[in-house]
Amino acid sequence: MATLSVAVVGSGPAGLYTAEALVKQAAALDPPCQVAVDVLDRLPTPYGLVRYGVAPDHPSIKSIAEYLRGVLERDDVRFVGGVRLGGEVTREDLLGCYDAVVYATGAMRDRRMGIEGEDLPGSYAATDFVNWYCGHPDTDSGSFTLDAESVAVVGVGNVAVDVARILVRDPEELRRTDVSQPVLEALMASKVREVHVIGRRGPAQAKFTTKELRELGELAGVDIVVGAGEADPGAFDATGGSATLAESDRRVRGNLAVIGDWAARAPAGHARRLLVRFWLRPVRVEGTAHVTGLTVERTRIGESGTLTGTGELETIPAQMVLRSVGYQSVPLPGVPFDERSHTVPNAEGRVLGPDGNPLPREYVAGWLKRGPTGVIGTNKSDAAQTVRALLADLCPDGVRAGDPADPGALAALLAGRAVAPVSYADWLKVERAEAELAASLGRGARVKLPSRAEIDARCRGE
Ligand SMILES: Cc1cc2nc3c(=O)[nH]c(=O)nc-3n(C[C@H](O)[C@H](O)[C@H](O)COP(=O)(O)OP(=O)(O)OC[C@H]3O[C@@H](n4cnc5c(N)ncnc54)[C@H](O)[C@@H]3O)c2cc1C
Ligand SMILES: NC(=O)c1ccc[n+]([C@@H]2O[C@H](COP(=O)([O-])OP(=O)(O)OC[C@H]3O[C@@H](n4cnc5c(N)ncnc54)[C@H](OP(=O)(O)O)[C@@H]3O)[C@@H](O)[C@H]2O)c1
Repeated sequence: MATLSVAVVGSGPAGLYTAEALVKQAAALDPPCQVAVDVLDRLPTPYGLVRYGVAPDHPSIKSIAEYLRGVLERDDVRFVGGVRLGGEVTREDLLGCYDAVVYATGAMRDRRMGIEGEDLPGSYAATDFVNWYCGHPDTDSGSFTLDAESVAVVGVGNVAVDVARILVRDPEELRRTDVSQPVLEALMASKVREVHVIGRRGPAQAKFTTKELRELGELAGVDIVVGAGEADPGAFDATGGSATLAESDRRVRGNLAVIGDWAARAPAGHARRLLVRFWLRPVRVEGTAHVTGLTVERTRIGESGTLTGTGELETIPAQMVLRSVGYQSVPLPGVPFDERSHTVPNAEGRVLGPDGNPLPREYVAGWLKRGPTGVIGTNKSDAAQTVRALLADLCPDGVRAGDPADPGALAALLAGRAVAPVSYADWLKVERAEAELAASLGRGARVKLPSRAEIDARCRGE
């Protein structure tokens, strides 16, 4: 029986759930269809945001990597690291080497606020800060020194919660996590005393999930303060919509209960303070050579339901601004891209061409397909949908359609370009080095290597 060969581009949750769904759904066809999946990643390390997004102090979520490891250890799945679509290989290369290609490259770019001062030194995308504390290979481990005493975090989603928590948490509690040693040392030396988390709408409209939000109020040595009058969901909403939201949505109700509880707390006089603010939209990042503050304008929802500025301004003193206003996918060369939604146009995972019809043999999954929302598990059902479409097209009735692709084609192509991809066995050398480093430092189970150069050296067996 000829094998269906598939390239999955991206080894984050979407890519690895796609690989798993491919082998499982194909095996369940009658008759079964044999598949071989190559999972490519531009990085030498797998797992995408599970490794370089999920916060280090959330080890139970990080352990999803253990589940995903099982996918990479299958005989019919192969990791091909250090190979970027748009760099070492093109879309046309992949379509020439495989029967089908699934794009699952996530959303790696930050959204912009579009206000004056956004690019001043001291103003950063949360993406950069997350990359730093997660030890992303593209980010220098020395790129953040936490000299600011006050930090303004713009946005009230779960990423804002993560970055605020990492900024105020006692760094001693991170010693047992996998944060790299230079990052741990920078957090130990941090001068940050105040973190302001700022939402442009009210507490009922905030995107946090209640479990993550509640954790902020449980941090040892941190006072949590809610802006005066801002915990009341209806205070700046003329439509009454916030109250309706609270009635109909359990998550909103949970968030309001947590925020209401914080508003009623008396500060204990701790060294670090977290100030949670609502109904304030950023107007300008202040400063000339460096950030000195963030000017915000009070907002309200008018009777028409539109969010408007009231003209009432406030400048929050801050020497660092973190813009946590969402992520965005980037286009892949040659692959259709909707510049408005920043996703690949698709129907149930089938990539659509400019005429709106599916392009043969091209599919998409994960954040690149749906946009940057949803937890890790959301990508599993999403990947299963894409794989159902792929197998219906290429393995109708369990019979592989069309001429088989050459299984060694990509290896030959890369060898011809003097590209040595990172294999799963190479990656395991990095994992071992992380465990050895943790043992030598007397820290937890693993500690991330501090640079891309060190990762590359370990992959080469040095
Ligand atoms: C900071 C942060 C924290 C999060 N924390 C949680 C959490 O605690 N719990 C939870 O459930 N969800 C969390 N999420 C959401 C979760 O991470 C996402 O739902 C999920 O990672 C999206 O999966 P993906 O595979 O589409 O993208 P990604 O995980 O981003 O994976 C994409 C992969 O594609 C690779 N890639 C990109 N471009 C190319 C290219 N051109 N060629 C080859 N490879 C490429 C990347 O290197 C990456 O490995 C978090 C998200 C963020 C941003
Ligand atoms: N522990 C976890 O489970 C976890 C951890 C991290 C991330 N995630 C998931 O990952 C996804 C991405 O999270 P995210 O926090 O990046 O995105 P998000 O949930 O979409 O939140 C983005 C926030 O930015 C605000 N915003 C957008 N543009 C703005 C602007 N110009 N000015 C001011 N505020 C602006 C939004 O406000 P508006 O609503 O007003 O637009 C919103 O509060 C989410 O699905 C999240 O749940 C999960």
